[in-house]
Amino acid sequence: MPRKNIAAGNWKMNKNYEEGLVLARNLLVKSSASDALMILATPFIHLKEVGEIIKGQPHLRLAAQNCHPEKSGAYTGEISLDMLKSVGVTHVILGHSERREYFHESNELLAQKVNAVLENGLTPIFCCGERLDIREAGTHVSYVADQIKESLFHLSAEDFGKIIIAYEPIWAIGTGVTASPEQAQAMHREIRQMIAGKYNATVADNCSILYGGSVKPGNAVELFGQPDVDGGLVGGASLKAEDFCAIYDAFGKSES
Ligand code: PGA
Repeated sequence: MPRKNIAAGNWKMNKNYEEGLVLARNLLVKSSASDALMILATPFIHLKEVGEIIKGQPHLRLAAQNCHPEKSGAYTGEISLDMLKSVGVTHVILGHSERREYFHESNELLAQKVNAVLENGLTPIFCCGERLDIREAGTHVSYVADQIKESLFHLSAEDFGKIIIAYEPIWAIGTGVTASPEQAQAMHREIRQMIAGKYNATVADNCSILYGGSVKPGNAVELFGQPDVDGGLVGGASLKAEDFCAIYDAFGKSES
């Protein structure tokens, strides 16, 4: 898959049914379609109707925030990829730090989920990123490298080419503290080099690598302007149509 500019909104556990539909409709009205993709990762209850709302819009895609790796069965409270596909989901966020922390998702489980998503023809948005203590100890690059190696590097070059990566330093998520454009660029560069080392320069160059962690309208232009930052995975600021559209429009204003 060629590299793309992407603004992905992760609604997390926010918005009741009606509120979510209002947000999706407002996004549709306020976003001016461009070459960049706008991906909406809504709670499960919204997926079908939001899918209807965004139907036929070439710049909009529908994502789930999680999935179960098994096809079906006795997994109370979980959701299968077949269910997600049946309502038009095209992307699945995997390994968000909140899932890793609160639901104990390991690199090994995430490898299984990555395989399942790809087998179903959907696109994983694979999240990685370090805690503050790891950043302060200076071991963040090897920590993120292990996350990527253990969950993704079993893939063939062809399958790896279907992955979107989101680098989300945990200390920047929901805290209002954003990684500086230089910090984001440095880690994205490292990730691209890891991919080039494992596969080749073309696979690395084609991989979309998003930054996540307090992306806002006020910092999106500078972040997205970094040569190895292809967009953002946005939490809080994706819950207001105006803010998320301003972030999406940042692509037109940055160099990359
Ligand atoms: P935030 O969340 O934009 O609210 O920091 C980002 C994320 O968790 O994906």
